[in-house]
Amino acid sequence: MRTFTLTCLALFMTLTGSPSQAASDAAVEDFDSIKLYTLKNDQGMTVKVTNYGAIITSITVPDRDGNPGDVVLGYNNVEGYINAVDKPYFGAVVGRYGNRIAEGSFTLDGETYSLAVNNGENSLHGGIIGFDKVVWTVKSADDRSIELTYVAKDMEEGYPGNLDVSVTYTVTDENQLVIDYHATTDKATPVNLTQHTYFNLQGEGEGSILDHELMLNANEFTPVDQGLIPTGKTPNVEGTPFDFTSAKPIGRDIDDDHEQLTFGGGYDHNWVLNKSGEADAPTLAARVHDPASGRVLTVSTTEPGIQFYCGNFLDGRLQGKSGKTYGHRSGFCLETQHYPDSPNQPNFPSTILRPGDTYQTQTVFGFSTK
Ligand code: GLA
Repeated sequence: MRTFTLTCLALFMTLTGSPSQAASDAAVEDFDSIKLYTLKNDQGMTVKVTNYGAIITSITVPDRDGNPGDVVLGYNNVEGYINAVDKPYFGAVVGRYGNRIAEGSFTLDGETYSLAVNNGENSLHGGIIGFDKVVWTVKSADDRSIELTYVAKDMEEGYPGNLDVSVTYTVTDENQLVIDYHATTDKATPVNLTQHTYFNLQGEGEGSILDHELMLNANEFTPVDQGLIPTGKTPNVEGTPFDFTSAKPIGRDIDDDHEQLTFGGGYDHNWVLNKSGEADAPTLAARVHDPASGRVLTVSTTEPGIQFYCGNFLDGRLQGKSGKTYGHRSGFCLETQHYPDSPNQPNFPSTILRPGDTYQTQTVFGFSTK
């Protein structure tokens, strides 16, 4: 039988003091329950998850020579996550609504709701205390899989409805991390859950990701205004720096003179995924290859969109788990999702979950080498 690895908070905390001392800006009822869990397969892949924010703190996979490397940005103590400058959402599950809702407001069934605003005039990633800053309950855990649950209260951060959320991380022998999201509600509410892991396939802290080659299976994207709110249009990417339909280095066109790149400070946009086949089966969304290590990340999802964000807000002030600083564009996120601001955009696929219905999505991060 495989050994189920559970490292107590004492190890996760390192030497930085008691959890409660650091919890000042988090609505944390029970810091004592925060633990670090390790999932593994038989191929040398390891994934570490904490029930604070349902955060993935580490993913270790081999390079083309078989050398293991940790390919995600993060910390080795919970204070790192709580106190991080600019709150980058390293590794976290984002909710109740991933990405932005314009002016923190939407109207649903004739009622207008005001959300907690935390990004200029907009609400970003669920508000001030989103799902990334709460302690989740561990419903089950073994060495392959962990299910985390959280109950978001009616009107928490301004959202209607008590929302029962479950996120399950499973590691397979094909070097995949499968993420299953599930939610039910007792009042109609917008829901858009995603995973905000920052990858650097060369290894966390190993510099810029601009040489990584990215393919996005998307012919269209959703341009934004200066506040990064979609305009509602979905133009074709052809002939623009947003064309990743064939793999190209992330850095190739990033400094082009293009209004959208100026607004995002680089890539920080949602792409409209090309879809084929069954709606409830994950389809290919993105592939990233790091020529230096040979590592390849493949993202598949049931979601209609993906936010490609290339760490434009990282600026070297954050120091990660191995002591290395996280410089500008030293990690990228591929956040599978519904489009930003959908509750205010009648032409986007709906994000409204109603009582009696079940929110169910799946995203798979697959690792290989070439
Ligand atoms: C998302 C947003 C970005 C930024 C990051 C977190 O990707 O689109 O603008 O807020 O999260 O720093």
